[in-house]
Amino acid sequence: MNTRHLVSIADLSRAEVEALLARARNLKAEGKSGRMNAPLRGQTLALIFEKPSLRTRVTFEAGMTQLGGHAVYLAPADIQLGVRETVADVARNLSRWVQGIAARTYAHRAVEELAAHATVPVINALTEREHPCQALADFLTILEHKGTLAGLKLAFVGDGNNVCHSLLLLAGTLGVNMSVGHPRGYAPAEDIVAQARQLATAAGSTIELTNDPQAAVAEADAVYTDVWASMGQEDTLEERRRVFQPYQLNAQLLRQAKPEAIVLHCLPAHRGEEITDEVIDGPQSVVLDEAENRLHIQKALLLWLLGA
Ligand code: CP
Ligand code: NVA
Repeated sequence: MNTRHLVSIADLSRAEVEALLARARNLKAEGKSGRMNAPLRGQTLALIFEKPSLRTRVTFEAGMTQLGGHAVYLAPADIQLGVRETVADVARNLSRWVQGIAARTYAHRAVEELAAHATVPVINALTEREHPCQALADFLTILEHKGTLAGLKLAFVGDGNNVCHSLLLLAGTLGVNMSVGHPRGYAPAEDIVAQARQLATAAGSTIELTNDPQAAVAEADAVYTDVWASMGQEDTLEERRRVFQPYQLNAQLLRQAKPEAIVLHCLPAHRGEEITDEVIDGPQSVVLDEAENRLHIQKALLLWLLGA
């Protein structure tokens, strides 16, 4: 059987996503008691990180520990992916020692290459193109708070970035309506939008893009934002601060959404830029539930991919 990877949300069918969400909810309900069974005893997950991380690193490490396995963190200086040796050689070597690889890289191509050459599952832990683990945790959070995903509208305001891409693909896969409000020149990638629309059409939902943040948020059930400059884009922050100001998620913009709308952010947040303190600390914010759910959904993913 071919080794399964999670490089893009598009690697998952609707049935697979639904199974992951259900398993994550069960794991969450069980708490850490699942450790008693130690389903991943003796298994090791390699964590390749070219960029900083709090949530992703800790949830993969804690998740492996709770499942009875172990994670090895490899910092940028340890591996020097593609510099000290090729990505393919790293993948081939790691495959001889560990049962899975999670990788956070700049280039999306690097994770694709790891998956092409590894004989163990490779999980995208964020690239410049996608952040699939985040989107899975986000839809788990929306499901928990709304009780259903059917007929919901998710609004994303800001940069059409990696997080936006994975949310678009997952909204399409699950038949959730999604509206992206972005400045001109900062739209999500055309091929991702086309793929998300194709999935959405099949699943009975719509994907809309607009330059009007108020229109994007109008009547939304969930409102999402992310940093204006992603990791690696810090030198463009000054320009982005000007361009993105009208897209700030503040109390005024949030009033366009349904009164019971929830507020999401993948974190880390740049408070006072893309989101105000009032909104991120307000009663509609579920950002810490999202952060917690990274743990549960990734445990479900590890159990599926590492074969327990
Ligand atoms: N949301 C997220 O991936 O956070 P980290 O960058 O801290 O891992
Ligand atoms: N878009 C952000 C997400 C961080 C979790 C980045 O890539 O830096």
